[in-house]
Amino acid sequence: MNPSRSLRWLSSLIIPLVTVAAHAVTLSPASRSLLPGDKSTITVSRVRGAVTLANSNPSAVSASLTRGAINVSADAVGVATLSVTDSQGTKTATVTVSPPLGVSLANVSLLVGQSTALTVSNAIGSIRISNSNGTAVAATLSGNVVTVTGKSAGSAELTVRDTRSSVKVRVTVTAPTAPPPPPPPSSTDIHPGRLLASNCFQCHGTNGSGGFDRIQGSTEVLSELRKFASGEEDPTGIMAAHAVGYTDEQLQLIADYLSKL
Ligand code: HEC
Repeated sequence: MNPSRSLRWLSSLIIPLVTVAAHAVTLSPASRSLLPGDKSTITVSRVRGAVTLANSNPSAVSASLTRGAINVSADAVGVATLSVTDSQGTKTATVTVSPPLGVSLANVSLLVGQSTALTVSNAIGSIRISNSNGTAVAATLSGNVVTVTGKSAGSAELTVRDTRSSVKVRVTVTAPTAPPPPPPPSSTDIHPGRLLASNCFQCHGTNGSGGFDRIQGSTEVLSELRKFASGEEDPTGIMAAHAVGYTDEQLQLIADYLSKL
C-alpha cells in the first residue's frame, strides 16, 4: 500500500465521522436561567434514533422529553445539567434556577417622621422602585437598600423591580398619638359614701372594724348618727361634734356604705 493510498483510506474513515459529528443532536438554548416556579422549553433537533434524557439535579429542575423539546420547570434554587443522548452522541444544556428577588420586609408600619431600611436581595440587573402614594411615604434607593420614611398618615404600596421580577411592600403610616388617659373610675364601682366614711376609720378602725365601736356592717349607724347630729344623744361628745359636720344626705350615704361592708 503506497502512502497516498493509505491516506485516502484513512480519510475515508475520518470524513464520515466528521459528518456524523456535524449532524449531532442539538439543544437550543444551551443554557437557561430561571426563577423558582418558571417553566421553559429547550428545543431538541437533529435527533437520530432513540433518544434519552438525563437530569443531574431533579430536585432543582423537573425535565421531560417530548417531541422536539425538553419541558423544563424550575422547582428550587440550583443548577441542573440536562443530557440528551441519541444514536449520534450526547449534548448537554445547563438550567440555572436562581433565588428570587426578595425584600427584607413585606409589611412596614411607621409613624409620621419615622424611617426604616429595607434590604433588596438577589436582584439581577438594576433595581427600580415605584411608589403608589408619595404623599404618605418617601422611598429612596441606595445600592440595595431602600429607605422608607413616613410623611403623612396613609398607606402606600412600593413595587421593587429588577430586570426579571418584582416584589411588593405595603407601608402603613400613622400619626403619633398621645397615650389615652386612664379611664375614669366608673361611678357604679365606687359607693358614694366611701370617701365620707373614710373619715370615720381613724377612730373606728379600718373599714369601721373596731376602734371605739365597731360600725362595720351595722344597720344602726344612720339612726345613731341622726341622734348625734340632732343632739338627742351625747350632744357634747365626740360623735355629736363629728356628725353635725354632715348633711343628712351624707349621713345616709355613710350609713348605707358601712351597712354593706
Ligand atoms: C374622733 C374619733 C371619732 C370619729 C372620727 C368618729 N367617731 Fe364614731 N364614735 C367615737 C366614739 C369615741 C364613740 C363612742 C362614744 C360616743 O358614743 O360618743 C363613737 C360612737 C359611734 C357610734 C355609736 C356606736 C354605738 O354602738 O353606740 C356610731 C354609730 C358612730 N360612732 C359612727 C361614726 C361614723 C359613721 C363616723 C364617721 C362619719 C364616726 N363615728 C366617726 C369616735 C369617733
